[in-house]
Amino acid sequence: MGESLRNKIKEASEYLRRRGLEEPETAIILGSGLNNYADRIKNAIIIPYSDIPHFNIGKVEGHRGQLIYGEHQGKKIVCLAGRFHYYECNSMEQTVFPARVMVEMKVKRFIITNAAGCVNTDFETGQLMIISDHINLSGTNPLIGENLEEYGYRFPDMTYVYDARLREKLKKEAADRGIELAEGVYTMMSGPSFETPAEIRYIRAIGGDCVGMSSVPEAIIANHAGKEIIGISLLSNMAAGILDKPLSGAEVTETAKGAEKTFAQVVDIAIKI
Ligand code: HPA
Repeated sequence: MGESLRNKIKEASEYLRRRGLEEPETAIILGSGLNNYADRIKNAIIIPYSDIPHFNIGKVEGHRGQLIYGEHQGKKIVCLAGRFHYYECNSMEQTVFPARVMVEMKVKRFIITNAAGCVNTDFETGQLMIISDHINLSGTNPLIGENLEEYGYRFPDMTYVYDARLREKLKKEAADRGIELAEGVYTMMSGPSFETPAEIRYIRAIGGDCVGMSSVPEAIIANHAGKEIIGISLLSNMAAGILDKPLSGAEVTETAKGAEKTFAQVVDIAIKI
């Protein structure tokens, strides 16, 4: 597996280099309903995932399935508009493949974003939460299998995944613009079913502030390779059982739409700091 995974990563990154990508400084993984951020990129090279070797072309509502490369705020940026969820491809190798390719492209910083259910009742829907740490309840780990030594160690430390210095800066600069960011622990469940109310009580009891079905695998890959990571969750709905109503994917995308402007302001800061 190691050899073929290595080859696939190389093939995808060589293709992207041929299409004009030069060592981007920052990769932004855009969560559900948050893909429009990519429109801010100037002189954009837009590459459909279906053109990139070994990129899965799974389609999910709210995702574009495009890699967008170009300049923003004087920096070379890649936006991954659309991600492969574990629940779609049933393979961690596929789920984190774009993140692995970004590592190979020598990206320095990952901005990992998502829409998530809000577990902490001190927070509000529509609010953005900086991820301070995570709990992996997916039942698996994207580093299982042969370790690709050229990227990182077999047993990577996970004490400082979400850079504390960057979190402080981000909170401060957002506050200066009148945006109050929540901060807390993201919990990953595999999905695709939403959680039960009992599972949400469990997540709260173990220290989770929000819950979603992504981001943790990519954060593990980026951390393995020693990259800077900023995680941003849009709290799109109160998690199951908090309000007396069912959850829906439509609510997630609607809240994301409503928060688009603030989200873009915060990501703009996250690129610059
Ligand atoms: N649970 C899991 N994933 C989610 C949720 C949720 O409530 N909202 C958005 N993504």
